[in-house]
Amino acid sequence: MCGIFGYCSFLIEKDRKYVCDVLCNGLARLEYRGYDSAGIGIDGDTPESPIILFKEVGKVAALRKHIAEGFPTPLPSELNGNGANGNDNSHVQGSTKLDMNKTFVSQTSMAHTRWATHGVPSVLNCHPHVSGENTEFSLVHNGIITNYKELKTVLIKRGYHFYTDTDTEAVAMLCKYVWESQPHKRLNFTELIKTVVKELEGSFAFVFKSTHFPDEMVLTRRGSPMLIGVKTDRKLKVDFVDVEMGEERVDEQVGGLLSVPGAAGPGSGPHSKLRRSQSRAFLSDDGMPQPIEFFIASDASAVIEHTKRVLYLEDDDIAHIAEGELHIHRLRRNDGLSSVRAIETLEIELAEIMKGQYDHFMQKEIYEQPESVVNTMRGRVNFDSRTIMLGGLKAYLPVIRRGRRLLFVACGTSYHSCIAVRGVFEELTEIPVAVELASDFLDRRTPVFRDDVAIFVSQSGETADTILAMRYCLERGALCLGVVNAVGSTLSRETHSGIHINAGPEIGVASTKAYTSQYVALVMMAVQLSDDSISKAARRQQIIDGLHDIPGQIRKVLGMDKALQSLAMDMLAGQKSLLIMGRGYQYATCLEGALKIKEVSYMHSEGILAGELKHGPLALIDEHLPVIFIMTRDSLYPKVQSALAQVTARKGRPIIICNDDDDSVPESAKVIRVPRTVDCLQGLINVLPLQLLSYHLAIMNGVDVDFPRNLAKSVTTE
Ligand code: AGP
Repeated sequence: MCGIFGYCSFLIEKDRKYVCDVLCNGLARLEYRGYDSAGIGIDGDTPESPIILFKEVGKVAALRKHIAEGFPTPLPSELNGNGANGNDNSHVQGSTKLDMNKTFVSQTSMAHTRWATHGVPSVLNCHPHVSGENTEFSLVHNGIITNYKELKTVLIKRGYHFYTDTDTEAVAMLCKYVWESQPHKRLNFTELIKTVVKELEGSFAFVFKSTHFPDEMVLTRRGSPMLIGVKTDRKLKVDFVDVEMGEERVDEQVGGLLSVPGAAGPGSGPHSKLRRSQSRAFLSDDGMPQPIEFFIASDASAVIEHTKRVLYLEDDDIAHIAEGELHIHRLRRNDGLSSVRAIETLEIELAEIMKGQYDHFMQKEIYEQPESVVNTMRGRVNFDSRTIMLGGLKAYLPVIRRGRRLLFVACGTSYHSCIAVRGVFEELTEIPVAVELASDFLDRRTPVFRDDVAIFVSQSGETADTILAMRYCLERGALCLGVVNAVGSTLSRETHSGIHINAGPEIGVASTKAYTSQYVALVMMAVQLSDDSISKAARRQQIIDGLHDIPGQIRKVLGMDKALQSLAMDMLAGQKSLLIMGRGYQYATCLEGALKIKEVSYMHSEGILAGELKHGPLALIDEHLPVIFIMTRDSLYPKVQSALAQVTARKGRPIIICNDDDDSVPESAKVIRVPRTVDCLQGLINVLPLQLLSYHLAIMNGVDVDFPRNLAKSVTTE
């Protein structure tokens, strides 16, 4: 998934090298999103000069090296189409060395990590993209423009030439077309981008620059996240930015590119100037602009080292940065969104983002779980009074309790956390529960009703399928709740309410601490929902007492890491496949463990419901195939024992995850002993050995643990 970074400084003198370092550091913080190439675009020797590009296929480190050499990447038009068909041009540089010591009092620049969707990974297809030879317009883009082919066809017919295979280049060319099509060049930058965006379909977060509007930047988003970090020595006068609902001014000669040529543009009529209110936040008492820096990014991890003051853009916001001010407009007036955007203060720390003493983010996040589950419960569980209060749900409890169905919708690991709590929700609420994979839910166009309660679980809060499923349910009048980790994410902002799992930033692509925090958050929700049932009081107290001990029990399992590393080496290394079996509350553990093994060690693995063994999987069992049995104590223990007997009767040599006080496990079996907790919480403990086994297998297999091939941390395209 692409990463966007922009840097806009005003009345702050910096040299080119500094600007490039800021851009590359920003990209480095976004690497976890998954990418295959990276690029930056910086000012030429004057703001009116063509943008200077550095682009590289591969890691940000390779891009840094290229920049240090000082030879910019030729423009697409100068590359003579090399690479358009995927020729290998992973490293291309021009012949003129750039003066990296040149300083700028004000500048605008942009950067991008690309996750190829249209066009192979190549220097040519790498962002920033420009509008032809003279780069009048340049941009970086996260998302997919679904009507780019139609746009490209019309623009080519009107004489515009394209050099890349990307959808993004069509937007750059459209900017050029809109600029050239207006008779008197009178659209300002914001109005021009508004005209452009009205032609687009799909999802996007854009940062635009233009030689026609030096030292200005326009940002807009629809379906992809974007935030703006603000850094200034002076205290901001207010902690919000007004949204300006000025009169639309669109040039009628221009609009409607895809409709009948020359047709009147949208919103034709008297050209009232956009009302330009003072951005109260950024001016001094005497109304003079102040030295200031703006950092634009796809998420907070890229700006936190510069500032904690951030503003999240909403879909169809058009943000304009110029002369040290930030103005926010709306694509359409009166669309019901709030008239201000808050400038919030981030709570995460850079240290949280860095790996610390760990070798990988995944390892760090596995080891953070004793603390992260505490953070999830903090301020919500009172262990003395044995009560749970989730503030975000309080107002909705009566509605949820009257709901006809609890509909959980998620993807991947988040889906598994819903499976893990399905039983306890059914038991405590006695409301029918459905758990859906977002993509399949949408494919089937599942019936949804006003008295459904839909719960969307997502670590990133930006997963496209989950967002689309949420909007599908919103349209049908269901109560929509989010269980999300990323504050300010689309899911957390567009649902009626919900729970932040407070697990802290999860950088590793393989989700670990988010799983256990989602699990805990959902259990807390189930307990709170059953507050009105006296008959469930004892069970609630049992679960709350169990939650109290979970952090210590997690810590105990983490202490087994070395033993698990040896077990991975001795019994799993080099194997072609692995089956993980369990049932009841442990079925989710099997699914989640199998996903971890698959996605970080590239070893095939499958989670199997032990009750299904005889319906086919038993045919796989022999003395060669590794099998992990999850056989911790609960009401289904005898049934799992029976499944185990079937496997050993066929020479299977299972590894058994069992409780540390279980003395009925076969002497010959290889065991992983874990602390015992309440049955519906045991999955929080049992998943840990599987997380650690997958991590060690990945290391043994030489995998880039935090960035496994082909995967992204947040899948923001369908
Ligand atoms: C889990 O290890 C994977 N990274 C993936 O399955 C992930 O859980 C899934 O893409 C959902 O992401 P979300 O929780 O951010 O919505």
